[in-house]
Amino acid sequence: MPATVHLIAAARPNFMKVAPLYHALKASGDFTPRIVHTGQHYDFNMSDAFFVDLGLPEPDYHLNVGGGTHAEQVGNVMIAYEKVAMADRPDWLVVVGDVNSTVACAMVGAKLWIPVVHLEAGLRSRDRRMPEEINRLATDVLADVLWTPSPDGDENLANEGIPAERITRVGNIMLDSYELLRERIEAENAPARFGLEPGTYGIVTLHRPSNVDQKEMLEPLVAQLEKAAARLPLIFPVHPRTRKKLHDFGLWARLEAAGLTLVEPVSYRPFMSLVSNARLCITDSGGIQEETTYLDIPCLTLRENTERPITILEGTNRLVKPERLVEAVETVLGGQWPSGRRPDLWDGKTAQRCVEDLRRRTALRHAAE
Ligand code: UD1
Repeated sequence: MPATVHLIAAARPNFMKVAPLYHALKASGDFTPRIVHTGQHYDFNMSDAFFVDLGLPEPDYHLNVGGGTHAEQVGNVMIAYEKVAMADRPDWLVVVGDVNSTVACAMVGAKLWIPVVHLEAGLRSRDRRMPEEINRLATDVLADVLWTPSPDGDENLANEGIPAERITRVGNIMLDSYELLRERIEAENAPARFGLEPGTYGIVTLHRPSNVDQKEMLEPLVAQLEKAAARLPLIFPVHPRTRKKLHDFGLWARLEAAGLTLVEPVSYRPFMSLVSNARLCITDSGGIQEETTYLDIPCLTLRENTERPITILEGTNRLVKPERLVEAVETVLGGQWPSGRRPDLWDGKTAQRCVEDLRRRTALRHAAE
């Protein structure tokens, strides 16, 4: 009988990690994947549109937890997922990334003795003010199997005392989504839809609480974006959190007046079409640091640290202080930005390695029983 696998999908950055694994597990014949959507992200633009773009079926279970404080979100996901996990008792539970639902479901699985696999394990920003860092640390302690994207992940886990046999370096699964959809992404021609010329514009995304929640942080960023927009066209798909704050602080009109193209969040295929044709990206996202490294597009990351240092060591990512954003844009436009290379195992074949590892570990479990 195929082993059942729960795949937890919760928030936007999860969907492109879940999709390739879902497709590979299903094709293997050895596993029955079931998608559990916690409902952490619920807008069409932030969730359903990604399911459509990534060829994912309707979730098998929908927990509909919605927003709330961190404790409310984690608590509500735990309460709702525990019922599903107890009724269904999957052979494996796979959680991905570092969102609140990741740690919530890992905790439920660990307490029910359901083996927990963490996909994208071992990343560390060493900044505990970031909610995601807490989620990463706690999830990795709870997980039975840790699938890492890069050698720094393996090292971090080893330093924290995680036994080597639990860790398998599988590579970066997000890029599997890109490769699965490459032709359709190329056919999207998203820049033209927004009146942009390929290779001549920048794309902006901002949503970290540390950048957008306080006016003292967001206003100087807006001032820099105004100046950057005078140097090249900028398109900015605005996250719901950021949209609210820009309006609350009276900054929205300034960005409009500066000529930025402000749009709703864009789903996976058009978004990757915009990124792959951009001259540069300005972001505080985690995943975009990796996608730009893969595509050799300059990435200006508005953060003090990153849990993805390999994108700086080997790729096109650099941390940029808010007040030096325009200077960094000039560096790119002057052709002075360093180019990079693709890290090892960032090759579109990560899902296959995950399936092989799960097959091996399933056999080991059966042998032990
Ligand atoms: C969450 C993740 C973050 C990830 C980000 C991607 C955590 C701690 N944070 O942050 O790691 O980078 O997703 O987007 O898990 N909202 C909507 N519609 C939605 C989703 C959210 O309007 O579909 C609103 C919420 O009501 C809330 C705000 O956006 O006001 C933030 O949503 P939330 O899920 O709490 O955190 P994100 O900032 O999206």
